[in-house]
Amino acid sequence: MTASASGFELLQSHAARLARTGIAELLESEPERVDGHALQVGPLYATFARQRYDRQAWDALLALGRDRDLAGAFRRLFDGQAVNVTEGRAALHTALRGDLSQAAAAREAHRTASEVRQRMGRLVADLENCDVTDIVSVGIGGSDLGPRLVADALRGPLPGRFRVHFVSNVDGAAAQRALAPLDPARTAAVFISKTFGTQETLLNGAIVRDWLGGSGRIYAVSANPERAAAAFDIAPERVLPMWDWVGGRYSLWSAVGLPIALAIGFDRFGELLAGAAEFDRHALEAPLESNLAVRHGLTAVWNRNALGLASHAVLTYDQRLALLPAYLQQLVMESLGKRVTLDGAPVAADTVPVWWGGAGTDVQHSFFQALHQGTGIVPADFIGTVRNDDPYAENHDALLSNLLAQTEALANGQASDDPHRAYPGGRPSTTVLLDALTPRSLGALLAMYEHSVYVQSVVWGINAFDQFGVELGKQVANRLLPALRGQSRAEDPVTAALIARLGR
Ligand code: F6P
Repeated sequence: MTASASGFELLQSHAARLARTGIAELLESEPERVDGHALQVGPLYATFARQRYDRQAWDALLALGRDRDLAGAFRRLFDGQAVNVTEGRAALHTALRGDLSQAAAAREAHRTASEVRQRMGRLVADLENCDVTDIVSVGIGGSDLGPRLVADALRGPLPGRFRVHFVSNVDGAAAQRALAPLDPARTAAVFISKTFGTQETLLNGAIVRDWLGGSGRIYAVSANPERAAAAFDIAPERVLPMWDWVGGRYSLWSAVGLPIALAIGFDRFGELLAGAAEFDRHALEAPLESNLAVRHGLTAVWNRNALGLASHAVLTYDQRLALLPAYLQQLVMESLGKRVTLDGAPVAADTVPVWWGGAGTDVQHSFFQALHQGTGIVPADFIGTVRNDDPYAENHDALLSNLLAQTEALANGQASDDPHRAYPGGRPSTTVLLDALTPRSLGALLAMYEHSVYVQSVVWGINAFDQFGVELGKQVANRLLPALRGQSRAEDPVTAALIARLGR
């Protein structure tokens, strides 16, 4: 047994010890639990009191975190060391929003990022001063999900200066639907692609360029600005750079956030970054035992490796955060969907569970039946906001009462002589409350998830910053495109039969 395997086995022995202890019993036997398992960090309050560990098990998790030198790992991340070892790169998303490291690489990254942000501010101002009303943002994955989430979460009930529309899927219906209601004379476009080699973005970019009647109002963001400019004949002053030290799914804080700044205003984009930077300082400086990123990440490790739970739900009790599950699916599953450690050996424990979710209360009327009475246990993050910004206070009370009710019912269950009407309980959850949904609190929330993911990757010994797993499918699709067009033959018999079915 390797040293790393032994860390997980100790967790499993604690889980076995606690197997028959309900969450209500844990609360009874540890009266300090409610305060002891809760943390307040800036605009975020999070309680872990309904997780299925006790003080002793939590201490074992903390010991595992110390054994993995989480504090040192954060320092290496913030200093710009090559934590993305398989690609020999830093992952300096923290330098996009703050200046917390004295290391030369981090300082230089922060300086460059600040310069580009100023350029971005000037482009936003230029656009605000012309007669454009609509923005079409073209990108996919990390070049889409973050901007799409934040722009949707923080926009007001009425459109702001611009209506921002997102086109990502290579399905032509996506572009058709987005463009049909718009006037090309009043629309500008932002093409976002770190590589500018992504099939979806190149095809959709061509559609939007042709629909606009040229590239005169196209802006681009890329780590390959020359390629971006050349691909669509975009004037270099309208191409903003990003860098190989920013992963796509960690990039909304860079110029990739241009659609966010257009949707909510450049100043509020700055507040989003400030909220994330505030959380960064906490993640870097707080001791492990009171560090919210560490707490969240180690809790995920507990649920995956001690309890063996293979799925995790994120349930937003704020309609404006409805896109958060989709954003987190990429952040978490692209980062942690790995099966080998940094040196290529099989990882000693199971890694990422399946992340999924939706917005309450709607989802209570769809999949919550399975959460309450299904055979599988799904740990969940419930996310709510203390203060609402709509005028309907009665609805907000109802929304919050549902959040509270669900977490309580899942944890405590309810006995019944009728097995159909019995609720087993014991279903763990974390509740995160934002003081209100603001750029600052959303920035902090997203930074919390980024750092939690990093914590999990360090514990498992995997690289959170590469994504080779998505390459094979792209290569096969490129090979099959000519077969689909009748220019070659598919070798795989099932694929060949399907192509015949497709009438090609
Ligand atoms: O398909 C995976 C991926 O490489 C993501 O990691 C990335 O965010 C997305 O594609 C888009 O890539 P790009 O920004 O280079 O177009």
